[in-house]
Amino acid sequence: MASEIRITPSILNADFSHLQSEIAKIASVSDLLHLDVMDNVFVPNFTFNYESASKIIKESALPVDAHLMVADVDRIAPEYAQAGCASVTIHAEATKDISETLRAIRKSGARSGLALKPATQIEDYADFIDDVDMFLIMTVEPGFGGQKFMTDMMSKVSRTRAIIGSRPIWLQVDGGISTETIEIAADAGADTFVAGSAVFNAQDPAAMVTSLRELASKSS
Ligand code: DX5
Ligand code: ZN
Repeated sequence: MASEIRITPSILNADFSHLQSEIAKIASVSDLLHLDVMDNVFVPNFTFNYESASKIIKESALPVDAHLMVADVDRIAPEYAQAGCASVTIHAEATKDISETLRAIRKSGARSGLALKPATQIEDYADFIDDVDMFLIMTVEPGFGGQKFMTDMMSKVSRTRAIIGSRPIWLQVDGGISTETIEIAADAGADTFVAGSAVFNAQDPAAMVTSLRELASKSS
């Protein structure tokens, strides 16, 4: 089981017109800010171009965990690392050169993340483990917030935890994480949790982050 828990709220469901005040609500209780970058090509939705994303990264009160759901990821990922992200995650299904892109992210000073869509198997990517600082197991199809948590991804989370072994690699889950589901994911071995709608639709987003952390910590 994982011992250190990280909560990384996603601003996808936050009020984009008042982003900095939305971030301020959760900054003191969260570990990183999860920034979902979508290009309307890799996923059927668009969020930020590089210019607006870099502004958010620069102004964010929290270190930024960028989740790149973009087709042209090998070119874009190092730019996000250079823009000051603490972590940059690429999708295995989008990259044409996994090792080179993960290494370029690290070289630019960020942690390297490798994300897998629900149909993608971890065993096909275990060989890249030395270039990975975080695996992201999607628990919904990427593209939108507010979807239902896919419990059947828990076997993939457990298998990823076994592959990680004693390496200091983070194991993140993203999609449908709430007070109802976070313990299930933590029990399967996740230690880093994205939560979008659960946090930003809550009356008190900071209290929600704290509750999520307490629930996840129960199983660690
Ligand atoms: C979905 C995004 C998620 C999303 C999570 O493609 O990667 O980060 O914002 O939102 P919730 O927590 O509402 O499922
Ligand atoms: Zn995400």
